[in-house]
Amino acid sequence: MPMDQNALKRAAARAALDELVDGAIVGVGSGSTVDLFVDELAGQRARVAGAVSSSERSSRRLREAGIEVLDLNEVLAAGRSVPVYVDGADEIDGALRMIKGGGGALTREKIVAAACERFVCIVDASKCVERLGRFPLPVEVIPMARELVAARLRATGGRPTLREGFVTDNGNLILDVAGLDLVDPVAFEAEVDQWPGVVTVGLFARSGADVVIIASPQGIERRTARSSTG
Ligand code: A5P
Repeated sequence: MPMDQNALKRAAARAALDELVDGAIVGVGSGSTVDLFVDELAGQRARVAGAVSSSERSSRRLREAGIEVLDLNEVLAAGRSVPVYVDGADEIDGALRMIKGGGGALTREKIVAAACERFVCIVDASKCVERLGRFPLPVEVIPMARELVAARLRATGGRPTLREGFVTDNGNLILDVAGLDLVDPVAFEAEVDQWPGVVTVGLFARSGADVVIIASPQGIERRTARSSTG
């Protein structure tokens, strides 16, 4: 990865600190941009009452940063709210719909995002697209359904490949699907989610981000779902 892209990721991560609610629990996604967010959060850890995490990798990083990782079920059972969820994306369009799962954490990301009130997406400008689908769509599947789901994905015009040597935190497999024409990502997400054996499709379209922080060489831009045109 070129150094400048890393610097942009860090700039987006740092800008997300302004979105935190002081004294509250924060939801934390996964990936290289989120790793940088955790690094930034470490310097301000007294601002948060702990974190709920979407992957083993992020949980480790949070603990190393001295931030307590809380169990999502215990948080919700205690009636505590999580006002903000911070996560990256592989692609994001003008309507703040995303492809996620490049790091394989899509299922827990969708769960934690759904439990939080507001999704703050942090990206460098290379992740912004007109139409989703250039990035191969990750689909988490139960191992015994791998070929069944792959055949169905091929029938929709996609080219699924098994992510070799990779097992998700939930013990499942990932199919990365190239060549999809995602004209209607909301409908595609709804359809694929219903197929037997599919755990999660890496489209976050029915419920996208509430705000995206985009870092480019020109600076930081914040777009909200309302202010977007896509
Ligand atoms: C992890 O499973 C993903 O959903 C990440 O959010 C996404 O892949 C973005 O990752 P980077 O920040 O590493 O680009």
